[in-house]
Amino acid sequence: MDMNIRYSTIKKAEAIEILRDKTSFNYTFDQTTIELLKKRFALKDSLYILAKNNGEFTAFCSVDRDWWENNYFFIREILVDPNFQKLGLGQELMKRCIDHAKKKGAKGVVTETAFENVPMQKLCAKFGFQQWNNPQWKEGITYKLTLGGFRRSAVESEIGVDSRLRGNDIKR
Ligand SMILES: CC(C)(COP(=O)(O)OP(=O)(O)OC[C@H]1O[C@@H](n2cnc3c(N)ncnc32)[C@H](O)[C@@H]1OP(=O)(O)O)[C@@H](O)C(=O)NCCC(=O)NCCS
Repeated sequence: MDMNIRYSTIKKAEAIEILRDKTSFNYTFDQTTIELLKKRFALKDSLYILAKNNGEFTAFCSVDRDWWENNYFFIREILVDPNFQKLGLGQELMKRCIDHAKKKGAKGVVTETAFENVPMQKLCAKFGFQQWNNPQWKEGITYKLTLGGFRRSAVESEIGVDSRLRGNDIKR
């Protein structure tokens, strides 16, 4: 496949509209999700990353501080267009979100997924997330990655993201 992936950071809440009705498996960015993403976008240290291939939407990932444990970041949304799955894009986006949390001095990163969402569970395991017994949510699996012993070089070499997928960063 001809790939020319570019990553950008969303800078204005209106730009979140690009996600509306984007869908992958049984997951869709519906009205409620879009509204919640807009609210969280305004929080300090939120990071919303878009990936486009030849200018077309390809993937999205967001991380924010709206989590009830102090100084933890939450990977709230991650979605890769079905035509671009299993190519390493999810991994690259997640890595960027974890790196961001680390730079902001986070104690850790959490995320949540459905019991049946095997791709997401595998992706989390790849980064060393552990299943966590979340007292506030039992309807799926909560994953937690503690950043205390997190070494950038170790993660980069273990994860080994394909250099073509690192893409070029552009500012919007
Ligand atoms: C979960 C998701 C983001 C993964 O994105 P992706 O770009 O396909 O993932 P990657 O190519 O980076 O794969 C990374 C790892 O995830 C796992 N994985 C990805 N897709 C998988 C699949 N269909 N089945 C099993 N494992 C899978 C693998 O362990 C893979 O590593 P490997 O290729 O070395 O084995 C993608 O499947 C998706 O968009 N799903 C729909 C939206 C969604 O459910 N989001 C999460 C909501 S909580």
